[in-house]
Amino acid sequence: MTEARRTTASRHVPVLSQDVIGYLDVREGGTYLDCTLGLAGHASQIARLLGSSGHLIGFDRDPRALELAGERLQELAAELGERMPQVTLVGEAFSRVAEFVEAGSVDGMLADFGVSSMQLDEPERGFSFQTDGPLDMRQDTRQGVTAAQVVNEMDESDLANLIYEYGEERRSRRIARAIVRARPVTTTGQLARIVAGSAPTMKGDRIHPATRTFQALRIHINRELDEIRDLLEAAPRLLRRELHKPTGRLVVISFHSLEDRIAKDVLKDLAGKGIWNVLTRKPVVAEEAETARNPRARSAKLRAAVMLGPGELPAGKALEYQDQGSGRQLTGFAQLKTEKVQKAKGAPGGGRKPRLRK
Ligand SMILES: C[S@@+](CC[C@H](N)C(=O)[O-])C[C@H]1O[C@@H](n2cnc3c(N)ncnc32)[C@H](O)[C@@H]1O
Repeated sequence: MTEARRTTASRHVPVLSQDVIGYLDVREGGTYLDCTLGLAGHASQIARLLGSSGHLIGFDRDPRALELAGERLQELAAELGERMPQVTLVGEAFSRVAEFVEAGSVDGMLADFGVSSMQLDEPERGFSFQTDGPLDMRQDTRQGVTAAQVVNEMDESDLANLIYEYGEERRSRRIARAIVRARPVTTTGQLARIVAGSAPTMKGDRIHPATRTFQALRIHINRELDEIRDLLEAAPRLLRRELHKPTGRLVVISFHSLEDRIAKDVLKDLAGKGIWNVLTRKPVVAEEAETARNPRARSAKLRAAVMLGPGELPAGKALEYQDQGSGRQLTGFAQLKTEKVQKAKGAPGGGRKPRLRK
């Protein structure tokens, strides 16, 4: 790894890393899936705990991130020697994860959404308004339209809607008008100045005036919200849910309200359908010591869920069961218990349901 690359990778601090490891319940010999490798910060921490019989699968759609993550994991392999787990890296969007990973094979999956520090730090990627670079913002540099194409070609009212919806920016119309008047807009610095000129910082604002507009463009260009929805809906098929084994876990970290809302809704929705239990009643946020070291952690919100095993009841719910003998509604008996009773009576399936003792 070159010195410049090593600096980028080693400067990178993964957010909420202790909580990630704790909620994933990383165990030796397990299979763990990091859907957002980035600079392999979390992935390296997971890999350290897996041992030689474990398997780490990492996804990143950014070819440069995948390359840097690979180099970092190679360094880790040199350090761990025989204790290094098997590693598989996939350079694809995480919405396609189910095409590459065997159903029911994953003990834990992590998704740390958004942009990596490398993407923000490298001006030529066009994500940052702090440094001047070409307006690009594509995570997968092999495909898709660039931010320059969007700001220069999109209809003014569509642009305003996009900035409003994905940036939650109330002054979107004014900003879109200013952008259209200034066309062609080619650099991040130019765009940041146009936005700041048309919608200056308001009293009480703690962020740069261009933050929301940049967020909106990034979300649109990378289809970020659709990607998250697709991933979360695919997760239950991938996670392990065997009887008598710890079941698979999901950990997601979001950085703004649009991402977090999707995570919250999907976790709750699938918990309601008896797929998993949500482990975080409220999102986990970073403590002050972490935000002081790593300002990016300030907006991070972690949510986690654990798959329900076959026949296991959702937290706080009792299975409703009709006692066919008396016709009374009974509650509180797990399916497992009924199966046991059936077996003992030698009447597996089909037959009359056993009477359950009160
Ligand atoms: C916040 S960083 C992850 C940092 C990582 N946890 C670490 O510790 O280094 C997010 C990474 O996910 C990648 N990414 C974001 N959305 C993706 C998607 N839909 N599919 C695949 N990779 C994605 C980005 O390219 C970026 O490298």
